[in-house]
Amino acid sequence: MKDILPDEVGQWQLVEALARDFFPRFGYQELRLPLLEKTELFVRGIGQTTDVVEKEMYTLTDISGDSLSLRPEATAQICRAFVEHSIHKQEPVWKVFTIGPMFRHERPQKGRYRQFHQINCEVIGPGEGEADAELIAMLIGFLEQCRTGRLTIRINSLGCPRCRPAYRAKLIDFLRDRRGALCPDCQRRLEANPLRVLDCKQPGCAEIVAQAPASADNLCPECASSFVLVRERLALLGIEALLDHRLVRGLDYYVGTTFEVVSEKLGGQDAVAGGGRYDGLIQALGGPEVPGTGFAIGLERLLLLAELEGREQRPAVFIGVVGGERAREFGVEVAHRLRLAGQARVLMDLAPRSLKAQLRAADKAGALGFFFAGEEELASGRARLRNLKTGAEVSVSTQNATDSTAEISIVLMDQWGQGAAPGPQEDRGSKGERR
Ligand code: HAM
Repeated sequence: MKDILPDEVGQWQLVEALARDFFPRFGYQELRLPLLEKTELFVRGIGQTTDVVEKEMYTLTDISGDSLSLRPEATAQICRAFVEHSIHKQEPVWKVFTIGPMFRHERPQKGRYRQFHQINCEVIGPGEGEADAELIAMLIGFLEQCRTGRLTIRINSLGCPRCRPAYRAKLIDFLRDRRGALCPDCQRRLEANPLRVLDCKQPGCAEIVAQAPASADNLCPECASSFVLVRERLALLGIEALLDHRLVRGLDYYVGTTFEVVSEKLGGQDAVAGGGRYDGLIQALGGPEVPGTGFAIGLERLLLLAELEGREQRPAVFIGVVGGERAREFGVEVAHRLRLAGQARVLMDLAPRSLKAQLRAADKAGALGFFFAGEEELASGRARLRNLKTGAEVSVSTQNATDSTAEISIVLMDQWGQGAAPGPQEDRGSKGERR
């Protein structure tokens, strides 16, 4: 679990602002859900035999004896909220996104944390491939806007309750014949969760799996035509997705189309995002028969890849106080009014220091302006505002704090050409339209 200190937070805010601007363009609305849920939700939703539920949850018993867990992922709880608020009676299509921390007790390594953050997008209602294609295209569009560099999209179809049992039996038959050559974990998984054998990283298992029957070759007509449609739509939009028979994902709720987006630049933990369809999940949680599909982006991994230009900050002005209580009072008032006016970041010492120390502090903070609020300046009715980048100075009235504030604002904004801080709209754009 890592601390995110102020010098990193700017990048997080940029990505989050981009998400909050981008996903609504596709009709998604933000929702915010609790970090703790009943443990039972994840057991039923994600699956008893998954690594996440078996080994990775942070679980506690609360004072009333209920077993609660920190959420290891958001899909199960979004579906829980869908059921709890009877959304299906209000919305035929529910498109939502959420941004926040998830918790999994995994072995830490680069790009893998025990508290990590995801952007989740879910579309609940439509069951056709059309929804999957729009969702995947949206994901890729977002990642491109974050300027992540080259990405590979892996896609597969895991079939549905109609076609998966036959495929599963076929796979078990195939693996049973080669049981001795599988790693001990896969030997154990073989009967309980044979699909997980497909993504085992052990070289011996990988060799066997390369010959194994593929789920995408064993789909029922509905799953097959939906999978074809997804791939056709992606091709139409110029998105290349590689069919990967070994892509099974680690959560049990998946059916039909699943996908992952990986980057070579991430090393061992190379998936920046993953998702897929989960048509039976809402029913399994006691809700109606409503299908859904979605994805989650790992924010720590996205930030390792994203090349975002820092948003231009408001210019900073340092109010330098030279002299006694009168000068300080004047400085305090000017600083407060300037801060309320909002065009500049206003810095000022909270205890008296020498002028030299204040100038040094202003320089260190990258301030554009330094305002000399001193006893002499108050007496003469005028004070200097120095541009610390060019050395130029402008004379500002000190008759009263209101006038000084107005004049300083005008100099910072108009004369020194800094303009107000751009809103999120102004500094984004995909590669082509980069400013
Ligand atoms: P997931 O593949 O488990 O899927 O996680 C999605 C993404 O979260 C991963 O691709 C990765 O970028 C990031 N991630 C996962 N675990 C960690 C970790 N320990 N440290 C850092 N990043 C991590 C899900 O969570 C599904 N709920 C996605 C989904 C939404 N499927 C349908 N809807």
